[in-house]
Amino acid sequence: MKKLTFQQLLQARLSRRQSLQLGLGALMTSMLPMPALARTALADSVSKGLLGFQSIPVSHLLDDIVVPPGYQAEVFFRWGDPVSDGPEFQMDASNSAADQALQAGMHHDGMDFYPLPRGSNNSDHGLLVMNHEYLDLQLIHTDGSHMDSPVSYNADKVRKEQQAHGVSVIEVKKIDGHWQIQRPSIYGRRITATTPMQISGPAAGSDWMKTAADPQGFRVLGTLNNCAHGKTPWGTYLACEENFNGYFANAEHAEVSSVQRQRWQRYHLGRSYYGWQQFDFRFDMAKEPNEVNRFGWMAEIDPYQPDSMPIKRTALGRFAHENAAFRLTRDQRVVVYSGDDARFEYIYKYVSHEAWDGTQGSHHGHLLDNGVLYVAQLHEDGSGQWLPLVWGQGPLNADNGFADQADVLVHARLAADALGATPMDRPEWIASHPELDSVFVSLTNNVQRGSGDNVSADAANPRNHNLYGHIVRIDEADPAALNFGWEVFALAGSEEDGGTIDGDIYACPDGMLIDDRGVLWVQTDIADRQLNSGDYAKFGNNQMLAVDARTGETRRFLTGPVGCEITGAVMAPDMKALWVNIQHPGSVPDVLRAQGMEKSPQNPRAASNWPDHHPQGRPRSATVLVTKHDGGVIGT
Ligand code: FEO
Ligand code: CA
Ligand code: CA
Repeated sequence: MKKLTFQQLLQARLSRRQSLQLGLGALMTSMLPMPALARTALADSVSKGLLGFQSIPVSHLLDDIVVPPGYQAEVFFRWGDPVSDGPEFQMDASNSAADQALQAGMHHDGMDFYPLPRGSNNSDHGLLVMNHEYLDLQLIHTDGSHMDSPVSYNADKVRKEQQAHGVSVIEVKKIDGHWQIQRPSIYGRRITATTPMQISGPAAGSDWMKTAADPQGFRVLGTLNNCAHGKTPWGTYLACEENFNGYFANAEHAEVSSVQRQRWQRYHLGRSYYGWQQFDFRFDMAKEPNEVNRFGWMAEIDPYQPDSMPIKRTALGRFAHENAAFRLTRDQRVVVYSGDDARFEYIYKYVSHEAWDGTQGSHHGHLLDNGVLYVAQLHEDGSGQWLPLVWGQGPLNADNGFADQADVLVHARLAADALGATPMDRPEWIASHPELDSVFVSLTNNVQRGSGDNVSADAANPRNHNLYGHIVRIDEADPAALNFGWEVFALAGSEEDGGTIDGDIYACPDGMLIDDRGVLWVQTDIADRQLNSGDYAKFGNNQMLAVDARTGETRRFLTGPVGCEITGAVMAPDMKALWVNIQHPGSVPDVLRAQGMEKSPQNPRAASNWPDHHPQGRPRSATVLVTKHDGGVIGT
């Protein structure tokens, strides 16, 4: 048994007291003040470490945000809020597709901050850029989508669903000490599933990318399933495309070779969660088999240039990109780490051929077109190797079915299979540390490890039936290196689950941010149906924790409303404002479904009515702004 420190004992006592307070109805954004004696003891211990706030208890089905004493959380930017001077949200979701094209998309995810003016470090004015990953089809329209209302499903509904995807850019400014969204704004912009985009890099113009609508293979409409993101050193935004397979239908009716069909299966292609193929034929694989090759990339967006066309960078490979973490080699070449979030998928990194000159501007984007993509092999002894996805090297040749470099990149998963990459427990976010020569990788869970024909636990994925996930640290003094060291940083779960968390417990780590002080912020994504019951009951609602990346000390900082996951966070440069994204509030945990709380278009508020708590409202994904009462640095 791990011994509790005085600090942990104190926290345990405080947590129990807070739980009582919550039970008595102290439900809003911040906890009651703690007694002076406790505060003094806490302050003493805090002054020694990186984390200086009082951790909060788990939230058991509380339909609100909770943050520590001394902090406040306010709702900042919700699904349907205008990005500039567009129309307001209608509580019954009756906004049109044209309205939605001017409003925040649904299901906020990865997010970053871009100071204004470009190249400055301004902490009072900037652009907030965020992804909108996917849709709750029971909430997007008044009467539901293709599943709930098949008869009324039509092209307008498809168009609205497409406009609710993509990216939002909003201009934010601190006025009289208070952050506000600027409306109108010349920067306010939506990028959606229909926005024209350029395709660049080795796969651009290849046969894989050619369609009836784009016979040259250099233009695609839109970006999809934008999970998390990356921020380039030169000040642009990468919107990652994750589960793009969920948008394409009718694979079974396509006339393609058995080899092609196997490749589609490797990407889990063929069944759509949406119904777009009924009215937009590029999502029908039988009619347009190559459209699927134009998704699964990363789209570079210049938020400072509202008229700029996004560019999909194919040199970074095609897979279910979670996010993109940047480092620079010693000679200033650009390194991009990205996880492929599916069970038994891989960790990749890209190294540019040329160096970045240190200046700002989207013309540096070519650095993402010319370079080498590698995939990680993690050995049992704590060493590892990056294996190049380069056509003509090793097994990546015609004998093994790879025609050229475009083929290797379009089918990066198959190329990585051939190289012998290490299958991981769902690589989610990767975050690089500002001082340590390390990146941290969240592996969210994998209950299939060790079952049936699946591979069993190994040193880097040490649990079969991995319910709770873990975090791996990869160490590279120079990120250009092809060899690295790694270790398991934390096994999630409680001590009785074999967890190794030093402090407050969590499960299913997903979103991550490492701030300039070296605090690793971890956000959790226990699947909505499994929240608050069974193996996951003790973790409560999804949450966000602060972890000292050097010592592992972990404190719970924020808990979300019912059914949500917490994903995406960014601070202003002065670290005095923290924006956090709350995704899919109102999804129904099974424990509530068992009590008869079933969500439907007619009953959108079954599990949650956050954030509006409006009697005719519906749950809405939203960005919340967290600040300290004293205006101080977040986490201290
Ligand atoms: Fe969109 Fe892997 O989370
Ligand atoms: Ca995620
Ligand atoms: Ca997740």
